[in-house]
Amino acid sequence: MKKVLFIASEAVPFIKTGGLADVVGSLPKYFDKEEFDVRVMIPKYSCIKQELKDQMQYVSHFYLNFDNQDRYVGIMTMEFAGVTFYFIDNEEFFTGPKPYGDFLWDIQKFCFFDKAALSALPVIGFQPDIVHCHDWQTGLIPVHLKDKFREGEFFWSMRSVMTIHNLKFQGVWDMKTIQAYSGLADYYFAPDKLEAYGDGNMLKGGLVYADKITTVSDSYAEEIKMPFYGEGMDGLMRARSGNLAGIVNGIDYNEFDPEHDPNIPYNYNAVTFRKEKVKNKTALQQELGLDVDPKKFMIGIVSRLTDQKGLDLIQYVMDEMCSSDDLQLVVLGTGDEKYENMFRHFAWKYGGRVSANIYYSEPMSHKIYAACDAFLMPSLFEPCGLSQLISLRYGTVPIVRETGGLRDTVEPYNEYESKGTGFSFANYNAHEMLGMIRYAKHIYYDKKREWNKIIDRGMARDYSWASSARKYEDLYRWM
Ligand code: ADP
Ligand code: GLC
Repeated sequence: MKKVLFIASEAVPFIKTGGLADVVGSLPKYFDKEEFDVRVMIPKYSCIKQELKDQMQYVSHFYLNFDNQDRYVGIMTMEFAGVTFYFIDNEEFFTGPKPYGDFLWDIQKFCFFDKAALSALPVIGFQPDIVHCHDWQTGLIPVHLKDKFREGEFFWSMRSVMTIHNLKFQGVWDMKTIQAYSGLADYYFAPDKLEAYGDGNMLKGGLVYADKITTVSDSYAEEIKMPFYGEGMDGLMRARSGNLAGIVNGIDYNEFDPEHDPNIPYNYNAVTFRKEKVKNKTALQQELGLDVDPKKFMIGIVSRLTDQKGLDLIQYVMDEMCSSDDLQLVVLGTGDEKYENMFRHFAWKYGGRVSANIYYSEPMSHKIYAACDAFLMPSLFEPCGLSQLISLRYGTVPIVRETGGLRDTVEPYNEYESKGTGFSFANYNAHEMLGMIRYAKHIYYDKKREWNKIIDRGMARDYSWASSARKYEDLYRWM
């Protein structure tokens, strides 16, 4: 039995700010349980729902010297959907209305978490063969494993994987601070290790010291070797390319299932969508105060509202997009104020046609995936993207920019060969996007049979974890 521990900053159903949580919370369910024992460790944030916190059981606690003080490290556990989760408890670091937000404080709390997570392992009696770290918050773990922890027999042969979900976020602060919080020696703060451009960089530690690096799509694995997508790490990515692989994300097909989804008013499947899906559209139009008309071409956006997601392209051509009243846009998201206000503005300007829902809601996201005809995701970069996969599952045709995981998972519609599962454009250009939206709208209105065949093909694609979990298994087997 190979033992693996995922260590991360978020996991569904406990805490989620983005796709990372979906991956960390769902992928462990899909490993072959005969061969792999995969468990998960995250912080015990005070903002985890009380109902879940009530189900956690105390395992043990100890004190860890961190930044010259002894700090409490509690360990809680709970089984969820057949997976064992561990939670690192410390009220000083993990209290607050959201898991992160303030840069320096985040650096400090995850320097603490990384050390606490490894220190907890002998206490819980789980000795993983592989620790699988996710994103910058866990970047110091591979470093610690090659440093002091290695001296103990318990950690001696432990291997590490570092998965990049988003290279944009690296956990960067001045070297002195990161050195103090990490407790690592001067030796590590050199340009070939944790130093990057004069600062300390937590993710870089993971990228230098992990035995294997993965990222969440093949295209992104290639893109990050180039300066445009490499976020200053492209040289390192090229240097480590022999140990870097792309494994595309899947989604939880039980969680996202239009046939049994309790969040949507009308359930449907790959056969019944022709009649049933549209009922979700009119129900949502009613709920959100849009003009109620089953024929309107409804486009959805469910997203963090940040520059990554290509929202400036939308801003640029929104008036042109809304120049005819046959299109509706439903947005659900939170993020940068400039984008939140932009969508509020357009909802005011185009009442009845544009709906801006500036909040976070899992049930509302499901309603949008089910109701819309198309889903827009014109990202500047996209390591994988889960929203387009959820859209495909719900028979909602993705319109995407050809980058990263969007490029790998959405096959462009080809009218002449009757192929493809969505619409895509190559350049980061607002009018190229607008052209593609108009083309999609034309197929929707004028070639309905073709449109439905695009949906047929999309719904037939398998983006469950079935095949990607096998790829992670292969990776673990060879380590
Ligand atoms: P990223 O991780 O970059 O934010 P992904 O496409 O990988 O992008 O994952 C985003 C996930 O978060 C999807 O499951 C999406 O449905 C969800 N999501 C984003 N914003 C919201 C919101 N405001 N309410 C509910 N779910 C959201
Ligand atoms: C990141 C990326 C997104 C990816 C998700 C899960 O948040 O932005 O593209 O799908 O992680 O891997």
